[in-house]
Amino acid sequence: MKLFLDTADVDEIRRGARLGVVKGVTTNPSLAAKAGVGGMEAYKDAVQEIASIIDGPISIEVISTDVEGMITEGKDYVTWISKPWIKLPSTPAGFEAMKVLSDEGMEINQTLCFSVNQALLGAQAGATAVSPFVGRMDDIGQRGMDLVAEIVTIFRQYDIKTEVLAASIRHALHCVEAARAGAHIATIPYSVLEQMTQHPLTDIGVARFLEDWEKSKQG
Ligand code: E4P
Repeated sequence: MKLFLDTADVDEIRRGARLGVVKGVTTNPSLAAKAGVGGMEAYKDAVQEIASIIDGPISIEVISTDVEGMITEGKDYVTWISKPWIKLPSTPAGFEAMKVLSDEGMEINQTLCFSVNQALLGAQAGATAVSPFVGRMDDIGQRGMDLVAEIVTIFRQYDIKTEVLAASIRHALHCVEAARAGAHIATIPYSVLEQMTQHPLTDIGVARFLEDWEKSKQG
């Protein structure tokens, strides 16, 4: 399972990139706002800076809700960077725009997916990846990870090439569960990447090795 960072914060992306495990980045308007990125020009600058740090797909979300607007934005986004994934919502307009843009060879991240049916539609419309939102489903008392597992199983059954991108990941256990479910990618906040590195026994082990090393020099 590949790991993407789910943030528009360039400092977090720089720190994550240093670990050498980040294969892509997902952004959205809320993440841009959180990172202090306001307006299309600033979004473009941020995305271009992100692409200079991470040599992988960078998801850029459309703002429009109508087909024409989505297509116009998608066609603009592909001029920004070399590996854009145009992020389109799981709506009727989104599916229509997915079909048009994917037919033109663009890579699509189908976002805001909350059902197997939406994932099936996105795959038919040519999505490169579909993003089931795990945390937001958990929030309303539905098992988000069950949706990830179901989409993986059904896509395998029909040899559908669309990748399953577990999104709205809230904690390190979600990463383990997404991997177990067979997700191709998990996009995670920087805080979750940090959680993934941590184990108290590792810290204790490092401290003990150092202690023993110091003792060995004395005796
Ligand atoms: C990723 O592509 C999504 O935009 C993101 O994971 C949403 O996460 P949230 O539910 O924490 O906002």
